[in-house]
Formats: sequence, C-alpha cells, structure tokens
Amino acid sequence: MTAATGPAATIGGHAGGEVELIGLEKRFDDVVAVDRVDLEIASGEFFSLLGPSGCGKTTTLRLIAGFERPTGGDIRLDGASLAAVPPDRRPVNTVFQNYALFPHLNVLDNVAFGMRYQKVKRAERERRAKEALELVELGDYAKRRPHQLSGGQQQRVALARALVLRPAVLLLDEPLGALDAKIRRALRVELKALQEEVGTTFIFVTHDQEEALSMSDRIAVMHEGRVDQVGTPREIYEGPATLFVADFLGVANVMDVEVVTSDGRGCRLRVGERELRAECDFLGSGAASAVVRPERLRVLPHGESGENFIPGMIDRTIYVGSNLQVMVRLANGGLLQASVPNDGADLESHAQGAPVSVHVPPDALRILAPRG
Ligand SMILES: Nc1ncnc2c1ncn2[C@@H]1O[C@H](COP(=O)(O)OP(=O)(O)OP(=O)(O)O)[C@@H](O)[C@H]1O
Ligand SMILES: [Mg+2]
Repeated sequence: MTAATGPAATIGGHAGGEVELIGLEKRFDDVVAVDRVDLEIASGEFFSLLGPSGCGKTTTLRLIAGFERPTGGDIRLDGASLAAVPPDRRPVNTVFQNYALFPHLNVLDNVAFGMRYQKVKRAERERRAKEALELVELGDYAKRRPHQLSGGQQQRVALARALVLRPAVLLLDEPLGALDAKIRRALRVELKALQEEVGTTFIFVTHDQEEALSMSDRIAVMHEGRVDQVGTPREIYEGPATLFVADFLGVANVMDVEVVTSDGRGCRLRVGERELRAECDFLGSGAASAVVRPERLRVLPHGESGENFIPGMIDRTIYVGSNLQVMVRLANGGLLQASVPNDGADLESHAQGAPVSVHVPPDALRILAPRG
C-alpha cells in the first residue's frame, strides 16, 4: 500500500495499524460466537470478514474495538496487546450500518463532534472536519442537517466523522447495508479509493460476496465462528478451500469425483464413465469433490470431443439478459450449471433437450482433497 499523499496525509496522521488476532475466542454461555480465530492484518490493508448471518463477524469487530472482552486469546495492535486497553483508549473507530448522525447538528458539527474528547482546539477541529468532508466529497454540504442528505451522503458523513479522529484502524460493520443497490455499488468504488488515499487499515464486515470481492485486498471467510479460508479475492473465489467457501462465494457446481492418480501438480479424475484431467496440488486418491464455476464451462454442440469434454443434454436455459444460465444434465444424472455470455446468437442451440458437449478446462476444476 502506498503512503498517503496530499490532504489525506494529515487525515491519516500515521500509517495504518497492524492487527493480529491470536486464538481469539468469545463465548456467550454455550454459544461460541468466535472460535479460536487467528488472523494477521497488515498495515494499510483493506481486509474483509465475509460470512453468513450469525457467523461471528460483528462479535469479532466488537472484540477489536473493546466493546466485548475475549474469553480466550489476544488481540495485538502494532505488536502490543490490547487486553488491558479500554475501548476509548484504543486508536480504533467503528462505522456501523445505522450511522446515527446527530439530527440537531449540521454536517460539519457532526464530523467535528468526536474531536472534543481528544482535546483538539476549536479552530483546528473545524479545519480538520472540513478537510474530512472534502475527502468524502461533501465539502459543499457542511451547513446542511442530516435529514437534508440522501442515505449515501449520510453514510459518507459517518465515514468522515470516523476518519477525522485519525484512527490507526477503522472497523466498518456492514456500512453500506442500509443503502439501495445502485448507491452501494457507487459507494464501494469511492470507499476503496478513499481507503487507498488515507492508508488507514480497514476491517470491513459484510455478508455480500460481491462487495467483499470488489473492494478487499484480502478476505477471511467465516463460518460458525471460525475462519474457513483467508486469501485475496481471486484466491478464495477460484481456489476455495472448502465446500462452504465455494458455495458462499457465488454459484459453484460441485461434482462427486474419484481421484484416480495425482502427482502433486495434476490429477486424473473419474466422473461417471468419463475421465477428466485437473490441476491439483495434493498426493492421494479416492472419492473427492470437484468444484467448477459456471462461467468457466463451455457448452458446445454435440459431437465435440477431446480431453475434458463431457456429453450431456440441456435440461433448461434461463435467459438473464447479459448471459444465459444453461443447466446441463449429464449421463450420470448430475446437473451442471454453465453461464454462457449472451453474444446475440440465436438461442436454438441452447433449447431444452438439445444434446451438447461441455468442456471443463483442467485449470477451472478445483479438487477438494480426497476424503479418507
Ligand atoms: N450478547 C450476546 N449474547 C449471546 N449471544 C450473542 C451475543 N452477541 C452475539 N451472540 C451470538 O453470537 C453469534 C455471532 O453473532 P454476530 O453478531 O457476531 O454475528 P454476525 O456474523 O455479525 O451476523 P449478522 O450478519 O447477522 O450481523 C450468533 O449466534 C449470536 O446469536
Ligand atoms: Mg453483524
């Protein structure tokens, strides 16, 4: 991550904090909300916690913020434990989904408010608040009241209010959740650009996979209090480590396969009567699951043959505008979903009942290590 430049350098104040979660655990009676989580989040990283409702995302943020006490493990910021540091002394700020601005204060005063407790002089408070508003592109809205702003603008005020305090780490709990889809997409781009500009470490919570994939440097996928996988968006989307991760990040075809041989780089699989080649990095053989994304499959006219073709018949085709979702029934009874770009060709070749050959590129097949 590059160092902050321009006005941002003074907003960020210092480089983003480095956060380590070490065996972090939080139990509420018999519920284990956070189950021995280990994570290292780099200075200035845009890091997302992604997972379904109840998997422990908010609890993890609240532990980092100090609103909850861990029942096990530790949290370190720039190498030092936060265990004994009360929430108001941690260089960490939180932006929530419900941004709760003060209705009786104008935008500028809302942004400046928190600095009163940091013993910042009045003139300096105002200067910094203006600068933070410029940063979220609301410089002209300083005198408005919150109710005179759109939801997206209010959320940007909430961001400015958190950034102006110059936290080393900013925690964001579904900050775009209350906004409509179009504004969310626009704000995603802005939020990512802003984070790069200020260099603050962002820990961003979401259950929206597209949001996480499009903004994050790295993502931790959480499942029942645990981290299933950590990686770049591409690593976790294209190389899911578990069926849960494969399924949670978009549509995944899962096939039952038999690994016949593998040499640590490639392997040969059996799918029903067919043999396929795949890239895989383990040794071993036996029953396994193979995952492949719909956009990596190619649906060709019946009769195409060669390596990694599987014959099938179109079960149904759903027109979704930019592409066609084509469901192909295989000889072994399995169903594969392919996403075919809508290039304007006629739809006859994808009509129900049409015999086809499906090409599965070896590098698109992700084999989860054989069971047993
Ligand atoms: N104060 C509490 N007392 C008891 N159980 C709690 C408490 N806070 C959270 N939990 C439980 O801990 C688990 C994790 O909750 P958490 O709020 O962290 O989930 P989440 O991933 O943020 O979910 P969502 O996407 O719905 O916000 C849930 O089973 C929840 O019911
Ligand atoms: Mg939550």
